[in-house]
Amino acid sequence: MKITDALLGEHAVFYAQFDRLEEILPAMERVEVVRELGAMLAAALASHARLEDDLLFSLLDSRLGRDAGPLGVMRMEHEQIELDLQRSMAAGSAREAREALLRAIEEARSHFAKEEQVVFPMAEAHVGAAGLRTLGEQWAAARAVVVATEPAALR
Ligand SMILES: [Fe+2]
Ligand SMILES: [Fe+2]
Repeated sequence: MKITDALLGEHAVFYAQFDRLEEILPAMERVEVVRELGAMLAAALASHARLEDDLLFSLLDSRLGRDAGPLGVMRMEHEQIELDLQRSMAAGSAREAREALLRAIEEARSHFAKEEQVVFPMAEAHVGAAGLRTLGEQWAAARAVVVATEPAALR
């Protein structure tokens, strides 16, 4: 399995969480609950961004040069999303926490779209299927999931 397929699967699960959060957040009045929702999303999003950065983006850096093409912007967006999630966790009022969390979700949606439309196809072109499968194995080890080995004939 290619790492890009694994990351796309993670995006899909995040989209479901984003939808649910956008639905329930506007009516949430308790700041501690909103902060905790922000913390839950941050835990998952931070590890997603770190795996992209450590595995996929660093290999692209080595092939194309540090922060080539959209990679610099992608890294900045990781930081911006993280910052807004931190803001939601540290907010003093429910409104402030909701606004920061909704902003992080909006930023993440647009960031994911760029990865899906630009970065992952770029990785396919510059790293190739075999390289992406090697990174897929590292992703599986980092996420502690078992990926069945495909018979060579099916690859
Ligand atoms: Fe990302
Ligand atoms: Fe991503």
